Amino acid sequence: MKIAVPAEPADTRVAATPDVIKRYVGLGATVAVETGAGADARITDDAFKDAGAEITTSPEATVADADIVLTVRRPSAELMGAMKKGAIVIGALDPFAGDIEAFANAGVAAVAMELMPRITRAQSMDILSSQANLAGYQAVIDAAAAFDRAMPMMMTAAGTVPAAKVFIMGAGVAGLQAIATARRLGAAVSATDVRPATKEQVASLGAKFVAVENDEFQAAVGSGGYATEMSDDYKRQQAELVASHIAKQDIVITTALIPGRPAPQLVTAEMVKSMQPGSVIVDLAVERGGNVEGSKVGEVVSDGRVTILGHTNVQGRISASASVLYAKNLYTFVDTVLIDKESKAFAPKWDDELMTATLLSRDGAMVNPRFGGPAPAETAA
Ligand code: NAI
Repeated sequence: MKIAVPAEPADTRVAATPDVIKRYVGLGATVAVETGAGADARITDDAFKDAGAEITTSPEATVADADIVLTVRRPSAELMGAMKKGAIVIGALDPFAGDIEAFANAGVAAVAMELMPRITRAQSMDILSSQANLAGYQAVIDAAAAFDRAMPMMMTAAGTVPAAKVFIMGAGVAGLQAIATARRLGAAVSATDVRPATKEQVASLGAKFVAVENDEFQAAVGSGGYATEMSDDYKRQQAELVASHIAKQDIVITTALIPGRPAPQLVTAEMVKSMQPGSVIVDLAVERGGNVEGSKVGEVVSDGRVTILGHTNVQGRISASASVLYAKNLYTFVDTVLIDKESKAFAPKWDDELMTATLLSRDGAMVNPRFGGPAPAETAA
C-alpha cells in the first residue's frame, strides 16, 4: 500500500506531517512525499525522511502507483492523469466549485473532506472545524496587526488607553475562536448569530450577545446544526440593531455562512462609514461572496478611515498549525475507513456512511447524489 503526498502549488499547507507519516508507516504503508512539500509549513524533507517517508522529486513520481493520494487542494487534471486508475484522492476538493466530473474522467475515487457529516464519530475528521478554528484565531491576529491602537485596557503612569471594542458576527467554529482570542487579548467583545444555541456559547466565553431574539430567531435551526436563511423582515430588524452597534466598534470580524448559499451580507457600506477612523473589519466570508459590502477577495482595502481585510485562505496564514490539524483529520479518516488494521492492507469500506457522504467519484463514474451521481433510489435498484 502506497500513500502519496504531493506538494501544493496553491497552498501553504501540507496534507501530512512527520507525526502522521510515522503512523501510516505503522499501518503498513510506504509514504512518498514530494520534495519541498512541507516548506511553507516549516517541515523539512529531512523531517519527513526521518519519519519514514521516501522523498520524491516530481509530482508525477510522487503519485505514481499510489493507492491513496493526500492533498490540501483539488489536484490538477495533469496530476490526476499521473495517478493510477482507482487511486483514492483525499482532500478539500471543493465540490461546489464545478467541473467535478474531472475526478470521474481521471478514473480516481475522490473523497471531498468538506462533506464529512457532522456526527460525533467524525468529529476528529472534520476539516471545516479544525481549519475554521484556526482561521478565527488568525482573523483576530490580523485585525490586531492592522489596528493602530492597543487591544487591552492599559492603565499606565502616562494615562489610560481603553480596551478595543471587538464585534464578532457569526458565532460558529471560527466566530467562537475569534471571541476567545479577542478576549485573551483583553478586548471588550460582543457577538451575534442567528442560531439561538449560540447565545449561551457566546456568554460562556465572556462576550455580550447582540441579536433580535424574536420567534423566528428562537426557531432558527437548520440541518446539521447549521444556520438557515432568515426572512427579509428578520434581516431588516437585525440590520437596524447591528447598525447602531457597529458604529461604536473598533474591530468587526464577520464569519457568517449558510451552507450551499452565498454568504449573507451583514455589513453595508453605510455601516462601514459609520465607524471611527482607524477601525478594522475582517471579512472571513470574503471567498463565499462576503459579509461586508466593499470587501475584496484577497485584498486589503481602505477608504482612508476604515480598513477591510479580505485575506483568502486565512488558515493558510498559520500553515504550520493548520497542517498539523489537517493532516490529523485525514489520517483519522484513512485509519477508520481505508485500512484493515489486522491484515495491514488497503481495504476501503465503501459502504461506511463517512465514505458514502464524502465520495464523489469511483470507477469512472460520479457516485454522490448531491454532486452528479445517481439518486439514492437508483443506486439501491
Ligand atoms: P458556518 O461556517 O456554516 O457558519 C458560521 C456561523 O455563521 C454559524 O454559526 C451561523 O449560524 C452564522 N450565521 C449564518 N447566517 C448569519 C446571519 N445572518 N447573522 C449572523 N450569523 C449568521 O458554521 P460552522 O462554524 O461550520 O458550524 C456551525 C455549527 O455546526 C457549530 O457551531 C456547531 O453547532 C455545529 N458543528 C457540529 C460539529 C459536530 O457535531 N461534529 C462540528 C462542528 C460544528
